[in-house]
Formats: sequence, C-alpha cells, structure tokens
Amino acid sequence: MSNAINKGWWKNRIAYQVYPRSFCDANGDGTGDLKGITSKLDYLKELGVGIVWLSPVYRSPMDDGGYDISDYEDIDPLFGNMADMDELLAEAKKRDIKILMDLVVNHCSDEHPWFQKALREPDSEEAGYFWFAESPDGPPNNWRSMFGGSAWENVGGDRYYMHLFSKKQPDLNWENPKLRQRIIDMVRFWLDKGLGGFRIDAIVHIKKMEGLPSGPADGPDGMVGCYAYTRNVEGIGKFLTELREQTFDKYECVTVAEAAGVPNEQLVDYIGEKGYFSTMFDFSYSEPYNYGHGWHTAKDPYEWDFDAWRDTLYASQLSTQKIGCGATFIENHDYPRACQKFVPEKDHCPEVQKMLGNMYFFLFGMPFIYQGQELGMTNPRFTSIDQIDDISTKNHYRTALADGLSPEEAMRLCARYSRDNARVPFPWDDSENGGFSPAGVTPWLCVHPDYKTVNAKAETAKNDGVFAFYKEMIRLRTVSEYAETIQNGTFAPILQGEKQLIAYTRTGDKTIAVLCSFADSAREIVLPFEAKKVVLASKDEVKIDGNVLTLLPYQSVTLEV
Ligand code: GLC
Repeated sequence: MSNAINKGWWKNRIAYQVYPRSFCDANGDGTGDLKGITSKLDYLKELGVGIVWLSPVYRSPMDDGGYDISDYEDIDPLFGNMADMDELLAEAKKRDIKILMDLVVNHCSDEHPWFQKALREPDSEEAGYFWFAESPDGPPNNWRSMFGGSAWENVGGDRYYMHLFSKKQPDLNWENPKLRQRIIDMVRFWLDKGLGGFRIDAIVHIKKMEGLPSGPADGPDGMVGCYAYTRNVEGIGKFLTELREQTFDKYECVTVAEAAGVPNEQLVDYIGEKGYFSTMFDFSYSEPYNYGHGWHTAKDPYEWDFDAWRDTLYASQLSTQKIGCGATFIENHDYPRACQKFVPEKDHCPEVQKMLGNMYFFLFGMPFIYQGQELGMTNPRFTSIDQIDDISTKNHYRTALADGLSPEEAMRLCARYSRDNARVPFPWDDSENGGFSPAGVTPWLCVHPDYKTVNAKAETAKNDGVFAFYKEMIRLRTVSEYAETIQNGTFAPILQGEKQLIAYTRTGDKTIAVLCSFADSAREIVLPFEAKKVVLASKDEVKIDGNVLTLLPYQSVTLEV
C-alpha cells in the first residue's frame, strides 16, 4: 500500500485522540472506560471524525497512564474487557469510524511476565528481551532518563537494566530477533481484529547507540540527556522496515508515528512512498519553549522567538509536502492546552481557540484533534501537587524543589506545563462531575473548574462556539468545494515580512489563503492578491477594503483568492 496522502482509505479523514481514562466513565468507578467511549461515538460522528486514536487501554499498572503495558493482548479491567473492545470496534464500524490503538513497543511494564521472568532467571530467553548489563561501579553509563534520574536501575548486585522513561518501563531490546517476532505476532493479533491501525509510541527510540557510550554531563546531576544516544540512531531502519513488511504491509491499516526529532532530510525514510509509516506527527511547532533539565529553566513562552517558530513550521510544511503526509496537531495528552502554550493568559477566549485551530487545520497533512480541544478547554488551574497524577509532572516538581524553588513557585510551573492539564475528565454537561462520572463518584483526576460553562452540551447547542467552528473546518476539509484544495493543494508561505502572523496559501483546483494573527491589537494587512470570498473567520467581522484586510486581535481569516 502506498503512503501518499491521496491514496488509501484514511486520506480524507479527520482523526480525534481519546484519552480513555478521562473521556467517559460508564461504569461509575471514577475512570473512563471502553463502554463510555462507545456511548459517545455519535458525538464524534456529529463532529465529523473519521478516525479515533485511543491512548493505551492494555493491561497496565498505570505508572505512566497505561504507557507501561503488562499484557499486550488484554484490556485493563479499569477500561473493561475484550468484549467491550470488540463492541467498540463493531459500533465504530457501523458509523464508519476507524479505531487506532496505541502501539507502545519501545518499552513495556516491569510487571510484564517477560520482565518478571527475566528478573528471576537471568539466563532465560526473556532476559534477552531487555537491556541488562553487569556494572560493578554504578550505572553502566550516565544517561538521564526522560522522566528524570538515571536511565539505569539496579536489580541487585552489579545487575542493571535500562529504562529511557520511568523505572517501571524497562526498554525492550530490539536487537533480539526473538523479541521482534513477539512484537510482530502481537501487532498481527490486533490487526486481525479489524483495527484501523496504530499510533506508534516513542518509536524513534528503539535503536540505541552502539556501545551505549556515556556523554559529557549537561546538568548538575552529572548526567546527559539520553536523546542524542537513543533517538533515530543509525540502523533503526532495519527494525522499522521489518516491522512494516511483517505487519502493516499485509493489512489496509494506517500507522501514525510519534517520531520527534527526525530531521526533514530523513522524512523520506519515514513517510516517503516506501516509508516505514503512513504518517508521523509534526512536532516541529508543537511547543514554543525548550526546557532544559526542568521547567524552571524554560524560556517564557510568551517571549518566544515567534519568527523562528513560524519559520520552522513553514520549513516543515515545505519539506513534508514533497514527500508524504504529516500529521498535524496542536494538542495531545502530553501537553498543556494549546492556548496556554501560544497566547498570554489575559487574552484567552473562545475566539483565540478558533484561531489556533484554524492555524493548523488547513495545513498540508492529516489533522488530529485532542479531546476537549473542540470545546475550547483551557488548563484547569491546578493549585496543589496532590491534584497531580502524572509521573513526569511529579519529577519536574521534585527537580524544581531540589534546585531551590519554593513549593508555590514549583506548583505554579506545574499548573502551567503539566501533562495533566489535558487529562482532566471530559466535561459532558453541567451536572456533578461534568457528567463524566455519575454523581457521588470521585473521578480519578479532578473535574475542570469551568465545567458548568465549558461542556459538550452547552458547546454543541451554540451556533458560533468552538465546536461549531471545528465542525465547519472539518466540513470544509472533507466535503466542501474546497476539500480537494485543502487536502492536496500546495502549501506556500506568504507575507513573511509581517510580525506575529502565520499566513499561507494552499493551491489545488482553487486557492485559499489562511491568515492568523497572534497580535493583541488590530492591524492592517496588504494582501498580495484579490480576495474573492471569505471562507471562514474566527470572529464574524471581516473588513476588506480593496486589497487591505483588517485583522482584529488574534483573528484568523481564510479567504478564497
Ligand atoms: C510517549 C507518550 C507519553 C509517554 C511516553 C512513554 O511520548 O505520548 O505519554 O509517557 O511515550 O511511553
């Protein structure tokens, strides 16, 4: 099957990410579940969604929200059982919605039977599925794990194992052909069930640098970030090609890789005609800040270098469109809400959410929406570390305290950057718990304080809300007279001399221009073409005088030109 965007069943679909723990709690235990998702398929259909990606629902001790899997071929009881999964697949099929699962194969859980056996029997086949090393003088190298601390854990004596994420997520050793075969069998087990495909977690990390060398310390802990030694390392292609040939190629499935850090020159290997995957997320513009070893070392996002950020986005679009299809997004379960990343708090409002949506939705690629984005959800304003479940946030909090910040300062950073910002329960209505869990139940994470006003029931009743705006963007992309242009048209940046502006054209059988202002005051833009029609605008008032367009603060306007 070809990977080109204009081929394959997935070409004309909008994808939506569900974080199952927080979507809908059908059985009233405080955690979202598969039956809850099934009960909301009509809501997703109404929005116009054609693909749903589920964050992991496999059996898991939930050390990292399910990204630590202890049985790849079973459903965690928190979410239901295999019959519920089969029901979800069948009900989704009736509505022409394809389900993608999360394929987490860089690591598993330390509670997986493979790892348990490896611990008990160092000479077993299973021990060879992991990265064990004997090291008499402490950890075998100075790599820092992505969740903080050494990437090695001692299991007694001189024996260590590698974990690039938490110590409860031992890395799988892809050099071992027997391990690779186990993964291939598991992938086929799911595809045989009629899955639409997979979102593939942390896949760029499966190859580690030969010799596992230490590096020069980049922080006061004497360690070095493991990225340079474990991300897109030469030789990874052998594993990814084998995986594709033995699994995906045999099915009509779509694969979406989480492959941050792949340079534009190598996109062809990943998503070209013979690439490893159908598409991959474009992380190039997903966050404007770069924090070093802790959030307190981040540059303030509102003083970020807008021009550099914009140029990265443009460069990525220009490279990708020549090669294949990127997956575009502004939110997922690993980030705070988008307005928090890109716009100062004083300016947050539904119109800003619309503008941010407009900015990425008509780019070249396949758009993903993260649950709640279509309601214009904001960060829930956490005030105490006790409200946080996320392992990575807790680590950042500890690092901040260790570096001398007060608990209040450390908490302020967590409220701003925590992944749990996007993981609070989905607000369905204004009843207790936002209708996520039945009244009287305490959900696993606190309900958003704004649930009485920002919820699906209220939002879907509005003609001019964020939901209606997303619905219209989806209609424009999939079935309108502009669909061909938005799906396949050529991307070109325009008006690059303008400050605080994302502006581009897409040219197919028509030409549209998308202009998104990040300025907090109105401005006039001299258009380099004639505007034939306003296709969409984040604020109703659009003033065009000759070739001068007035953009209101944070307004987006899409024109046919
Ligand atoms: C990916 C997931 C993230 C998880 C990590 C480890 O980045 O998106 O949520 O913590 O992989 O599996």
